[in-house]
Amino acid sequence: MPTRSCPVTDHVPSADLPDDGSRGAPDGAGSGPGTIAVLGAGRVGTAIARTAIRAGYRVRLAASGDPALIDLIAQIMAPGADTSTAADAVASADLVVLALPLGKHATLDGDTLAGKVVVDAMNYWPSTDGRNPELEAAPSTSEVVARHLTGSAVVKTLNHIGYHELEEQGLPVGAPARRALAVAGDDPDATALVRAFVDRLGFDPVDAGDLASGVHLQPGTPIFNGSHDATTLATLLREAPAAVGH
Ligand SMILES: NC(=O)c1ccc[n+]([C@@H]2O[C@H](COP(=O)([O-])OP(=O)(O)OC[C@H]3O[C@@H](n4cnc5c(N)ncnc54)[C@H](OP(=O)(O)O)[C@@H]3O)[C@@H](O)[C@H]2O)c1
Repeated sequence: MPTRSCPVTDHVPSADLPDDGSRGAPDGAGSGPGTIAVLGAGRVGTAIARTAIRAGYRVRLAASGDPALIDLIAQIMAPGADTSTAADAVASADLVVLALPLGKHATLDGDTLAGKVVVDAMNYWPSTDGRNPELEAAPSTSEVVARHLTGSAVVKTLNHIGYHELEEQGLPVGAPARRALAVAGDDPDATALVRAFVDRLGFDPVDAGDLASGVHLQPGTPIFNGSHDATTLATLLREAPAAVGH
């Protein structure tokens, strides 16, 4: 099962944050940064990479093919990120973030991702993904991803924040009006790991329940459409099941 005991879980108290405007970023002192693999080097993947680097993580960025094709993208859009094949990025990662079009999830290699905690930051947009009956019929699109990645612990989050907001809105722990992000997953250890990651990126993680409950974070929901603090987000999550009959 997934590697869980790793530096991704290191919590850096707000008092340790540098007072230099790099909000949401730890100083890293005394806690070796973990390694994050980001699969997808587009708008979202590079924004997650930048934010994670600023938070003190080592980031390995990969797209679908030859890493040489994204070297320039990484240099310009995510300075400090290493590029590699997806397999190499995943092999050394404590946590993997999926930031590719959801319609391409079936191109992911389940064997490569087996044993990993995998963040599903993807959304279903028929206009770009094409109509997909399986995604449309599923209780939550993350369950379709999890059915493909049977050996991974899939956790839904980061899908309901704009890529530019991810960089701009992170705040230290305890900051007033710190934005919250919901985290949904079936494996308690994996969701705890991801909550620590979200926190370190600069956002209050709020437990959203099991992976099926990830439906409450999908496009068209109040959680997807808004920006909420932890109290409001928890209230929306409590009220959400009745709204969608889950
Ligand atoms: N727009 C937002 O603010 C926002 C926020 C949160 C989440 N999202 C979601 O994030 C996802 C990515 O969106 P985006 O706008 O960043 O897409 P994008 O700009 O089109 O980039 C997609 C990236 O995924 C790569 N990719 C495709 N198949 C892959 C594979 N099998 N393994 C690794 N990489 C692969 C592509 O590389 P190749 O060129 O090699 O195919 C490309 O680098 C979408 O599901 C979107 O809904 C969007």
